[in-house]
Amino acid sequence: MNKHSIQPREAVRALRGFTPDLSDLTIPELRQLLGREDVIKLSFNESPYGPSPQVITALGEAAAQAHLYHDPEGKELRVALAQHFGVTSDGIFLANGADEIITLVAQAFLSPGDEVIVADPTFGQYAFAARLMGAQPVVVPVRLDLTTDLDAMAGAITASTKVIVLCNPNNPTGLVFGGNELESFLKKVPDQVLVLLDEAYAEYVDSSDFKSGIDLLDKYPNIIAVRTFSKIYGLAGLRLGYGITRPQVAELIDRVRSPFNVNALAQAAALAALADTSYCVRIAALNGTERRRLTAHLSALGYKVYPAQTNFIFADIGKDSDALCQALANEGIIIRSGSNWSMPTFVRITLGNSLQNDKLIAALQKYHK
Ligand SMILES: Cc1ncc(COP(=O)(O)O)c(C=O)c1O
Repeated sequence: MNKHSIQPREAVRALRGFTPDLSDLTIPELRQLLGREDVIKLSFNESPYGPSPQVITALGEAAAQAHLYHDPEGKELRVALAQHFGVTSDGIFLANGADEIITLVAQAFLSPGDEVIVADPTFGQYAFAARLMGAQPVVVPVRLDLTTDLDAMAGAITASTKVIVLCNPNNPTGLVFGGNELESFLKKVPDQVLVLLDEAYAEYVDSSDFKSGIDLLDKYPNIIAVRTFSKIYGLAGLRLGYGITRPQVAELIDRVRSPFNVNALAQAAALAALADTSYCVRIAALNGTERRRLTAHLSALGYKVYPAQTNFIFADIGKDSDALCQALANEGIIIRSGSNWSMPTFVRITLGNSLQNDKLIAALQKYHK
């Protein structure tokens, strides 16, 4: 058989496989490539603090039951999340990371020819998921101050618009928009258009202006709020994201979800993580301290630092950032260049712990000497 006779479906033909660059490599790969053990990876917005000790205990217990299939509906965790947020569990759905939520929403709602409005820059999975279903991403640039341009996004709505994705706080900018701005935007969105509000970094926000989509669900039934255990809870490797929406919308998404999509260990870990109520508060405080400290140091170097509400900082260094990223890599520190978003003078730096950030600051000072 001629291998070229095997063809993917139309939408897949236009997709390109992922080509990792240096900042996408794993720590073991980086150690080998850079020939050093002391690699500090600040390019993935992972938590440097690890999971709660209670999670590690729960994982040990769950591991002993790994031979059994678990509840395919994740009821216990959905009930715990419902209590946590004061919503009903039938509006909550679980997925293998927030990434899978984005894909599930695309699979449930998008057809070829539909339009999905996304900001630019923003998290790349939204446009990918749209293309996967043969839908068209409609890209709306952020404003000059890098805030999400909600007016322009509302202005981009057409009869073909099916989904609008808002990332709040936005990755890579780290910026939030406030509740008033969100509500005036939502008022302009037709009922049949879904608003996917990706709040992967919400737990790091300290701006009183921020309003979660979860608190607006009663008023705006077309919202799907997306959260994850990958960031503040430090469970990225276990893959657990969840969506909160109206039960009618959750039921539609559930039709395309594969039964055991969230594994038993991830669910056990998430239950323990939610039960350790002080953990999140402690990590948010540590992150806030490091965010203020790194912001001050980067500003002192002459960088234009944007007021991040996340566990990463986005900054304009005023010159080619690839050169800086390479110089830092030579010191064993990996950050992400803005060229990932065609912003070649920007860097996105995940906040490490205080020791990691000390090393980063020293390496930056050396570079700029
Ligand atoms: C905005 C945003 N949404 C979703 C995700 C994916 O999270 P998860 O690890 O839960 O798939 C990320 C990961 O970096 C992200 O930045």
